[in-house]
Amino acid sequence: MLVFTQIGPLKAYLSNQKPQQSIGFVPTMGALHAGHLSLVQQSKASNDLTVASIFVNPTQFNNPNDLAHYPRTLSLDMILLEQVGCDVLFCPHADEVYESNEAIEQYNWGAITHSLEGAYRPGHFDGVITIVRKLFSWVRPTRAYFGKKDYQQCAVIKELVNRFHLPIMLEFGETLREVDGLAMSSRNTRLSVEERQLAVRVSKALFEAKANHQQLASEAHQSMATFFEGEPLFRLEYIAIVDQANLTPLAPNKPTTGSVALIAVWCGNVRLIDSMILQ
Ligand code: PAJ
Repeated sequence: MLVFTQIGPLKAYLSNQKPQQSIGFVPTMGALHAGHLSLVQQSKASNDLTVASIFVNPTQFNNPNDLAHYPRTLSLDMILLEQVGCDVLFCPHADEVYESNEAIEQYNWGAITHSLEGAYRPGHFDGVITIVRKLFSWVRPTRAYFGKKDYQQCAVIKELVNRFHLPIMLEFGETLREVDGLAMSSRNTRLSVEERQLAVRVSKALFEAKANHQQLASEAHQSMATFFEGEPLFRLEYIAIVDQANLTPLAPNKPTTGSVALIAVWCGNVRLIDSMILQ
């Protein structure tokens, strides 16, 4: 695997590839797990060259504590990427990615950027869009891979590609889960043993909603909420049942079939998110 830490050499290397060669791109923030690696494997299966990036992007962290404690495991990440046959790793330094005091553009694309994660993590998607635009401009991928675990992020990136007419095909990978159902996440390593046991309720709530997808949105909402009630380690931010495409809330008296349920909840000091299509 070739490793680049600077933008110039990465661009030079990629522009020397034959024009007909396809490039698959998997952007990440590292602390890699099987979910990330499954995206690399999907890219490998469809492209001549696979590029992964690792960059803990400061502008998408609205919470300085979260940024400070975000796990960083670069040497292990490199071994894992080698094992799945990643061709190129790009891990740039923050001072080359961002100019000092660079102003971060604000994007308001309605519910897609401002509901749910956008409402609870102000500025988060401005940071995501900013870094993904930069990475796309340096890597110029044929295809880019994102995980459905971050459902709203997928919608934001789809909107980005459409609005700016970027010639990039987007592929959205399924959420990889631990044996008990918990969605894999780099932040899971920060859960205590007790929190880890409770964390499974997030996916349990979603699986139950999926199994009962004919129920009304109000019923689904209520039954998902019961998974978090009376447990002081949980602090629920949202349970939402929304339209798959535009993320607007489903009317309470509508059956949930075909919609998507999303949950964000603090479990101790770790913020968990997960989502599931109800059908
Ligand atoms: P990160 O959280 O590292 O995730 C990188 C990619 O892996 C994202 O597309 C995410 O949705 C996907 N992913 C995470 N957990 C997954 C799981 N359990 N199963 C399948 N895919 C999973 O998302 C980001 O980084 C950043 O916001 C980024 C896009 C890199 C911009 O900084």
